[in-house]
Amino acid sequence: MHPENISDLKMIKLFRLAAFAPLFLPATMPAQSAAIVPFPYEIKKEITVDSAVVVSAHPLATKVGIEILKKGGNAIDAAVAVHFALAVVYPQAGNIGGGGFMLYRDKLSNAYCLDFREKAPAAAQEKMYQDSAGQVLTKKLQQGVLSCGVPGAVDGMYEAHRKYGRLKWGELIMPSVDLAEKGFQITEQEAEGLNEQKMLFVRNSSLMPVFIKMEGWKAGDWLIQKDLGQTLRRIAGEGRAGFYEGATATLILREMEKKGGIITSEDLKNYKSVWRRPLEFDWKELRIVTMPPPSSGGIILRQLIGMTSGYPLKQYGFHSAESIHVIAEAERRAFADRAVHLADPDFYKVPQTTLTDPAYLKKRMADFKADTVSASTDITAGVAKESEETTHFCVVDAEGNAVSITTTLNDSYGSKTVVGGAGFILNNEMDDFSAKPGVPNMYGAVGGKANAVAANKRPLSSMTPTIVTRTGKTWMVLGTPGGTTIPTTVFQVLLNVVEYGMTLPEAVQAKRFHHQWKPDQITMEEGCLSPETEQALQKKGHTVNPRESIGRLEAIMRLPNGKWQGVADNRGDDSAGGY
Ligand code: GLY
Repeated sequence: MHPENISDLKMIKLFRLAAFAPLFLPATMPAQSAAIVPFPYEIKKEITVDSAVVVSAHPLATKVGIEILKKGGNAIDAAVAVHFALAVVYPQAGNIGGGGFMLYRDKLSNAYCLDFREKAPAAAQEKMYQDSAGQVLTKKLQQGVLSCGVPGAVDGMYEAHRKYGRLKWGELIMPSVDLAEKGFQITEQEAEGLNEQKMLFVRNSSLMPVFIKMEGWKAGDWLIQKDLGQTLRRIAGEGRAGFYEGATATLILREMEKKGGIITSEDLKNYKSVWRRPLEFDWKELRIVTMPPPSSGGIILRQLIGMTSGYPLKQYGFHSAESIHVIAEAERRAFADRAVHLADPDFYKVPQTTLTDPAYLKKRMADFKADTVSASTDITAGVAKESEETTHFCVVDAEGNAVSITTTLNDSYGSKTVVGGAGFILNNEMDDFSAKPGVPNMYGAVGGKANAVAANKRPLSSMTPTIVTRTGKTWMVLGTPGGTTIPTTVFQVLLNVVEYGMTLPEAVQAKRFHHQWKPDQITMEEGCLSPETEQALQKKGHTVNPRESIGRLEAIMRLPNGKWQGVADNRGDDSAGGY
């Protein structure tokens, strides 16, 4: 019987009665189990230190990173350890069943970019998310095993460590094994997230995951993940083979078989992360080092900086109607280009040189009008032959090596499929493809042929891990989750510092807005604009709509006195640590 044919409660009862029920672990920790860290956790939103910083979406992951650095690990070692820790303590977006991008700038000023984005399975087909009438099958695209790309995270971390790590691989994963097996207390945000997803986990997983608690989760409850602990032990002991082969692979394939997925053992064995050349450009006295395709993020960031730099934004004033008008119009044009020109460069010739050329960007704003909007129906791509959960973390070590990683399951808790017996959540990254030209994905982003589904192809991303240098030295390390709002958030935080002269904490915590061409509207966080500014924008023809918070940006910056400042976004449990 298909799960959707029976009531959710009945389904949960069936889960409990099933033969595997004895395998279930109590979701609450008996009082005698030792707390690893006192709860509620100490969350630091700002730190200023001499040597090394880690900023991540969870205080326990930040702590793991700092401990690795103190043991003599470098920034890559700490980043790998934080990535695995987030997979345990931040299941919403931290992952081993997803993928992401890493930007690394070493102490010798060499910059490297690692693409460990998920890939479409070899059996994927262009119209697999359309019915016979051409209607997009949203559920299939966004939930369950058919929405999953082949995960890249473990291969990515393994590759980054193989090339640049210093400590032993297993040593970087053991703190996460501990957190999974001994458990940790969940925050209110995590409790809310898990409660919201309960029925979706039930519908989309073959076995009852530990993420379901019948009476509901609350802050301070213990989350123990024994299956995940075993999976992490295999990865710690066998490297990438501990995930893509052997027992973990068998459990993934079993989930696929039970729920009708198409990822095969070949897909898993063949997954390979790719080193790519970072996208670099100058802005004022700064050099921006950021993410090239298959992310749209770096190109959009470059375009926004290029298209707005001819306007006196500082003189217009922070969040003035004039500034927001210029920025929104630039965003409209950048997202129109994204919809047509950006995709996996291994499958589609992305016109990166043209799209990032200053002359092209100047021309893109030639039809900008100070008094009125350009309708999105009139703006097309220039002629030149992406709930929003993802997570970002940054590390700077005492030697000056810097890592900026954005990693994702796509939606909050990805596909809501937990691999039975392996305890981790699979992504729903297939929704980042354009399932049908012009039909918006979960972020409202539209796309076309360039980003169509194809076997072994990577879906277009918006993730924008970025490192900014000044006089040749690493000056800022930043990035954020937020789907299509990622590049516009990175851009606004950079503008806040570089153009509006804000301190880093002010820049990160300031309210944000966003425009993405379609839908034709400016969305903004509550309290972002004064009623007068909103009215002035409406007078120019903008539709202005409120929305939930935009992004959770983490950043590290070198201060004029040589110290490092770490700032964690106050929109979540994000926390900075350092020494
Ligand atoms: N799944 C969000 C992104 O890659 O942009």
